[in-house]
Amino acid sequence: MRTKIVAGNWKMNKTFEEGIQLVKEIQQSLQVNPINANENIKVIISPPFVFLKPINDLLANSSFIYTAAQNCYSEEKGAFTGEVSAQMIQSVGAKYVIIGHSERRAYFNETDALLAKKINLALANNLFPIYCCGERLEERNANTYFDVVKKQINDGLFHLSAEAFSKVVIAYEPVWAIGTGLNATPQQAQEMHQFIRNVVKEKYGKQIADNTTILYGGSCNAKNAKELFANPDVDGGLIGGASLIANDFVQIIHSF
Ligand code: PGA
Repeated sequence: MRTKIVAGNWKMNKTFEEGIQLVKEIQQSLQVNPINANENIKVIISPPFVFLKPINDLLANSSFIYTAAQNCYSEEKGAFTGEVSAQMIQSVGAKYVIIGHSERRAYFNETDALLAKKINLALANNLFPIYCCGERLEERNANTYFDVVKKQINDGLFHLSAEAFSKVVIAYEPVWAIGTGLNATPQQAQEMHQFIRNVVKEKYGKQIADNTTILYGGSCNAKNAKELFANPDVDGGLIGGASLIANDFVQIIHSF
């Protein structure tokens, strides 16, 4: 059974106190109303870098909640003022790192070639990468969305060995759905997730494809998560806005 994941990407939100409060609320709620232990579900919280260590410490006793960084730098170490390395992230206890979020691609000009370097550094430092892909609105309208996503996956990930690739989580996040309140329909999500799984299968074979966790992201919320997660190739979500509200995030976790 492949792993199901609900990951909360806080982006650049919350003060330290607010962040700690949010994590405590999520923890308490999941104690009162636990997740189904048979389901192989992982919960990931992705706060800004500066909160990673204290939040990770707060979660030390949890068997299924992990932390992720929202990014890492594309070089190992050295004179890169203001940047944070994969090794640093690993050293504070985070297990995952989001790589290639569309906001990084758009606002920081991150290319697939640069992202491939980040993927390598994440894996070399024992972090599980959550690799984001997804088309822009004009690409959806021009019907090139399958090609766009295939290229992002090919150029960012397919240099990896099968063993290395099996540590990667893929997040399909159509850019037109992020923060817009306009989520992909369950049909659109399933169609793309199935396509991605096939692309992975062509490269690495059926077993690895069947075991790859593919998350949906883009205006996924407490109301639509159940319908989205009900699809056979949608293995959970990467949640932005709705991960900032404990009740909504927990409801999404209970949507499998
Ligand atoms: P959203 O963001 O849920 O606020 O649309 C998702 C994401 O950017 O990961």
